[in-house]
Amino acid sequence: MGPNLKRTILSQVAIVLTLCVTVFGARQCPTNCLCDDVVIDCSHNKMSTVPYMHPKSPAQALNFSFNSLTSLDNFQNFPASHASLDLSNNQISHIPLTAFSGETFLELLALNLTSNLIDDVHFVFPSSLQVLRLSKNQIQRFCVERLKNLFQLRSLYLDLNGLKTLSCQEGEPAKANSIPESCPFLPLQQIREVFLQGNKLKALEQGPILCFQNAQFLSLADNAIKSLPAKLLQEFHKLKYLDLADNRLTYVQEGLFYRLPSLKFLSLARNRLGTVPAGLPMLEWLDLSYNAITTVSSAQKSDLYPQEVFLIGGNPFNCDCKLLWVKELFDTREYLLKYNDVDRNKFVPICAMPERLRGDTWDVIGDTAFGCRDNEEVSAKRKSVEAPEEAPVVQLEDLAFKVKDVGASHIRLHWDSLDLTSKRSAGEKEPRKIYINIHPFGQKKQKQSLAVHLSVGTHRIIGLQPSTAYVVCISLADHSSHNSKGKTRRDDCVEVVTKDDEQFQLRDIYMRIGIVVLGFALLALKCCFSSGLHKDMSSRRKND
Ligand SMILES: *[C@@H]1O[C@H](CO)[C@@H](O)[C@H](O)[C@H]1NC(C)=O
Ligand SMILES: *[C@@H]1O[C@H](CO)[C@@H](O)[C@H](O)[C@H]1NC(C)=O
Repeated sequence: MGPNLKRTILSQVAIVLTLCVTVFGARQCPTNCLCDDVVIDCSHNKMSTVPYMHPKSPAQALNFSFNSLTSLDNFQNFPASHASLDLSNNQISHIPLTAFSGETFLELLALNLTSNLIDDVHFVFPSSLQVLRLSKNQIQRFCVERLKNLFQLRSLYLDLNGLKTLSCQEGEPAKANSIPESCPFLPLQQIREVFLQGNKLKALEQGPILCFQNAQFLSLADNAIKSLPAKLLQEFHKLKYLDLADNRLTYVQEGLFYRLPSLKFLSLARNRLGTVPAGLPMLEWLDLSYNAITTVSSAQKSDLYPQEVFLIGGNPFNCDCKLLWVKELFDTREYLLKYNDVDRNKFVPICAMPERLRGDTWDVIGDTAFGCRDNEEVSAKRKSVEAPEEAPVVQLEDLAFKVKDVGASHIRLHWDSLDLTSKRSAGEKEPRKIYINIHPFGQKKQKQSLAVHLSVGTHRIIGLQPSTAYVVCISLADHSSHNSKGKTRRDDCVEVVTKDDEQFQLRDIYMRIGIVVLGFALLALKCCFSSGLHKDMSSRRKND
């Protein structure tokens, strides 16, 4: 009995001890670091080597940012199965070929190597990566094939590197004949955003760039790009945001951007463009500020009118009669300054010519300064602008749509339906409808759609916010089924700003007070009358 009992006690103690060691051992935190169940945070520590960590530390994230690491040789020290590794803001220059290949990194999702001294990326990335940050290093050549196995990659940061080429070919970068025509592997399926700004790219290298054709966001700003290949961007079907600001573009081929079905934001600011690119799609934001545009032909109305916001400030405009239509368009958009966080200098154009107008901003000069007084056609047009009530705002087939009445919370549309209904009704079974889409300016997500029978001739859109800019689009076809791209044609939309609420509120209050006063008056009258009657009756009874 005695020895048996001793043995069980001893073995139990041993079990407890091993448990303790495993638990506390696993939680052991490197000196000067902060640890919890999720993070081992060794940032801001002046560490020059990676400290020892228990391989079974449960941490999900390792943070070694802001230290003095120079190489990554003791990687084996890292606990397995962590999801995020932050090595940013160190002095890492050399990363061994197989540094990230071990089992330790099988589950790594985010790798941050921002702000180091890496000049050569020849190591293999873990294939689980979703976010790869290599900003602010000294990478002049990045071979896209390094991304070949990153099937999960969503975000790639290669900005601010002095990058000259994405091609894997040795030799002089950006030589057309050495660059492949298509992506050398299957284009990255999951890629969402690619940051290539702040580099020294001279061209969009066809093959490498096509590896990113599924991206929604592509920034190539602040490079040295001189021209855009005609068909290259057409493969970017999901691209919403394209930033080409601060490059050396002198010309954009007609219709180049028109075939990007999802594009919403396009910046070509601070290039050397002499004209507004022809064949622009309908965008939410178009930035052409600080180029070399002197005039815009009135044949390009369909390029500028559909844009929700266009920025053409900082161009050397020749403010003559030919440009008056742009000035008038600008006048109708001036309210945007109030509702949007736009840079005034990018938004308000300035005249560079003629001499008498040099330096004048368009928000202070009148239309007459553009010198069109003798031109009858233009003055007639101006008259119609002065009386917007009479101007058809959207013309569809035979139909002219007008904004008849704008209140704080409603807009009334009016159309003359006679012609069209009589013409069409013969061949069509169902009465035709018009489709009205309305959204607050810049907030397409809040779009409301409604359908109204053509024969009604008028419709009041209600429930709107006061003093808010709305984009109202009208069409004769149901966009949800008819038009696969879901886009309204460029000239089918108008902007309407609802009225200020105050007047209405005040009127409302007066009206309510009026009703209450009237109510009391009536009540009082009724009381007096009935009590008078009562008295009268009782006095009469007394007399009887
Ligand atoms: C690592 O620490 C730095 C500095 O404290 C912090 O800015 C950074 O966000 C951390 N990294 C991660 C991945 O949380
Ligand atoms: C490194 O990148 C991660 C995301 O990938 C981010 O959360 C972290 O804040 C970055 N580190 C620093 C110091 O900015």
